[in-house]
Amino acid sequence: MDISKNIKYIGVNDYEIDLFEGQYIVPNGMAYNSYLIIDENVAVFDTVDERFADEWISNIYSELEEKEPDYLIIQHMEPDHSGSIMRFAKEFPNTKIVASSRAFGMMKNFFGTGFEDRQVVVSEGSTLSLGEHELTFIEAPMVHWPEVIMTYEKTEKVLFSADAFGKFGALDADEDWACEARRYYIGIVGKYGMPVQNLLKKAAALDIKTICPLHGPILKDNLGYYIDLYKTWSSYGIESEGIVVAYTSVYGNTKKAVELLAKMLEEKGQKVTINDLARCDMAEAVEDAFRYGKIVFATTTYNGDVFPFMREFINHLTERNFQNRLVAFIENGSWAPMATSIMKKMLENCKNLEYANTSVKIMSALNADNMEQLKILAEELCK
Ligand code: FEO
Repeated sequence: MDISKNIKYIGVNDYEIDLFEGQYIVPNGMAYNSYLIIDENVAVFDTVDERFADEWISNIYSELEEKEPDYLIIQHMEPDHSGSIMRFAKEFPNTKIVASSRAFGMMKNFFGTGFEDRQVVVSEGSTLSLGEHELTFIEAPMVHWPEVIMTYEKTEKVLFSADAFGKFGALDADEDWACEARRYYIGIVGKYGMPVQNLLKKAAALDIKTICPLHGPILKDNLGYYIDLYKTWSSYGIESEGIVVAYTSVYGNTKKAVELLAKMLEEKGQKVTINDLARCDMAEAVEDAFRYGKIVFATTTYNGDVFPFMREFINHLTERNFQNRLVAFIENGSWAPMATSIMKKMLENCKNLEYANTSVKIMSALNADNMEQLKILAEELCK
């Protein structure tokens, strides 16, 4: 695939993977992107998961035939991109390897060598001329590992953005960009809002026409749309109006309360998204919590704690710096309900959470008082 006359796509699609990064389901597969700039000197950007090394090397040969690349640029050392470095290094023994000094340290950890005799160490503002194309390296620590560099090519105005602006899904997946880019961003990079903001500030100073990420499609049109979403996500802002209800229910009584609340809210014209935490994709539920501005946590007391799926859900939120939301609780307990106080405690270090005045306490099954509480809570959530 040509990105331009001189910039080629040489990545691979992975339809075999069950869990990306060991935890995220990827029903439409995953793309490990890799690029080639052909000029007087030839540069390859990043490798691919080692299971696809043969396919990737053959992609390089089909573009270059007998010519050996001059530079392999390693922007990120996570194995989905670094897994074929050793294979490449053996295949092309004269190619220089370009990376940050931290990345070379990681190569030593992964492969037992930092390629000392072939390394070109780059840092913020370093440049590398390929002929007509000139590369400038941008440090982007924690987007999403500390060694990350991105690369700006000024002749064609291309930003090689490492994991930033990536998404789940193979390149031929016919699906909404934002849906799978949001799940990817919140899941994988969500904790690192400030480093992403720092990167966006650097990117704002560049004239960018094309973004080449390491996952998902190459972005060429309407770049402001993607950049604005990244601004919202990295600042923990509210992307969409609506209310998320995340719940667990053991015998269906908490579920009944949730459904009733959702009906009341929908009758008032609110958009409501419900996630049954025991059954849904947890990453979707986490994504929703960061997408909308209001959230209701509904769960039972269990073993003197909250129900396990709710504990897991809240842990996912707090470790990703959950903040800036209106929060409400529905709890259920047959003899000593304590779920609400435990959930509040779990959220106590989150910044800028506003708590609804109404909280719903069910003692086993919904009663008339609960119905009234739900009605008042619905009104409060609509304000
Ligand atoms: Fe796509 Fe952080 O690796």
